[in-house]
Formats: sequence, C-alpha cells, structure tokens
Amino acid sequence: VSARSAGELHPAVAASGAPRAAEVRRLFAGIAHRYALANHVLSAYLDVSWRRAAARALAVGPGSWCLDACCGTGDLGLAVARGGCRVIGVDFCRPMLAAGRPAAPASAGMALVEADALRLPLRDRAVDAACMGFGLRNLVDPAAGLREMARVVRPGGRVAVLEFSEPSGRLSRPVFRAYVRHVLPRLGDAVTGSTGTYRYLPQTIGQWFDPAELAALMRACGLADVSCRRLALGAVALHVGTVGARAAAGPGDCGEVRPSC
Ligand SMILES: C[S@@+](CC[C@H](N)C(=O)[O-])C[C@H]1O[C@@H](n2cnc3c(N)ncnc32)[C@H](O)[C@@H]1O
Repeated sequence: VSARSAGELHPAVAASGAPRAAEVRRLFAGIAHRYALANHVLSAYLDVSWRRAAARALAVGPGSWCLDACCGTGDLGLAVARGGCRVIGVDFCRPMLAAGRPAAPASAGMALVEADALRLPLRDRAVDAACMGFGLRNLVDPAAGLREMARVVRPGGRVAVLEFSEPSGRLSRPVFRAYVRHVLPRLGDAVTGSTGTYRYLPQTIGQWFDPAELAALMRACGLADVSCRRLALGAVALHVGTVGARAAAGPGDCGEVRPSC
C-alpha cells in the first residue's frame, strides 16, 4: 500500500467520488443535530455495542489519555471515557462538536476540540491510545490520518479503527448491499430531515478497502500486530494495531491541546 501525501485523494476515496474536505464538513454540518439519532436508527442501536467493543479494545483506563479522531458528536470517545480514561475528541466540523457538547460535559472526561485529523494539534506520543469511528472513509487521505494517529500515540499504545465493510457471506452480502443502497439513504434522510445527504454512504462503502487491505494500510502506516474483528455479520470491521517501539516519552503527556477534563 503506497503512502500518499496529505491533500491527495486516496484511490479508494477518489474512485468512490467521495466529496473533498470542505464538502465533507458541509455534509456533516447539515445533519449534525440528528446525526447520533440517525446512527442509532440506521443500525438498530447496534452502533452502541460497536463503540463499546472499540473502547474495550484500546485497553486504557483511569489515568490514561486517548484521542478520538473525527469524533463527530463524540459517541466513541464517550464510550472510552466511561472506563475512566480522559479523552480528547477532534473534529473539523463545528456543528458536529456543538451537537455533541451536551452529552460530553467536562465532567464526562472528554474535551471536544475543533481541528483537522490530518494535522492533529498534539505532540508526538502525547496520548496512550487513539480511536477513529467511521471517520477514515471520509478523509481525503486515509493513510495520512492513520500516520497522524500513530504519531501521537506512545509506543506500545493502541490505535482502533471502526469502519463499515462489506459482509462476505453469500446471503449477508446482497442483503447488506440492498440495505445500504436502497433503505439507508432514504431512512437517513428521513431521520435527519435532509435531502440526498445519505447517498454518500453507499458511494464510499462500496469502494472502501476490504478488511485485509485496511490491515495492510495500517501496517504501512507504522502499526504492528494489526488484528481485525468483524461485527454485525461483517458489516462493520474493528481493526486494532499497536504503535511500534520508538524513543521513549512520558505516557499521556498532552501536547499543544490541554483540555480541562
Ligand atoms: C461519520 S462521522 C463519524 C463520527 C463519530 N466518530 C462516530 O463514530 O459517529 C465522520 C466525522 O469525521 C469528520 N471528519 C472528516 N474529515 C475530517 C478531518 N480531516 N478532520 C477532522 N474531522 C474530520 C466529520 O466532520 C465527521 O464528524
């Protein structure tokens, strides 16, 4: 898997016709107020268990710091924070952060920060772990996003990525495709009150990496021991990798961002 410079469209993203960063920001701004609800409805509330699985896989607890990149309204980061870990959620879409703020007060252990996941405002090895839920597909350069997460996690810390994936089963695959193509865009628009916004999902999911390719991309981006767990009959993939040994640094040493959580 070749590394690409920030700003250049990754082939999987280019092939899908995924909108560029400004368009992604606009797209999520338009549905921010109902985004979390739409996730629950579209997944029959399974998204809660996917986020819990990702949080557990990070193996962090009280006294640790975790990054939630592309945090949106913060649901994944909050699942991590419930284990006692302090979380820095980063997203470049202000309305998504604003919609998440009521659920993520400082007392919840999560700070929401407006920033680009491709240029994180964190020093090298600043946190003990990092996660990204359904954000990687939206990045104009997924490899750069993975490298940024690996950069800010201390050696030995974990990086977890939750993403959609296509089931491989003979029955589950066509059912999933039909759901994503025909049901999900309509239901998503109905819940969020938008028009055509959820059409981006079948576009991006259909062209996305399969789990083995994503694991290879993670390895190419500096992550070791990459494992993949399929959830929801393979409709979702949870990849977890470990940041390789590098120069030692203090765990949980926050960089430029010093949230008060
Ligand atoms: C599908 S939502 C996922 C939100 C949340 N992680 C979840 O699990 O529901 C994708 C999020 O990625 C954000 N995003 C996309 N590209 C980004 C970038 N370059 N930097 C920061 N956030 C980005 C969008 O603003 C959006 O909130």
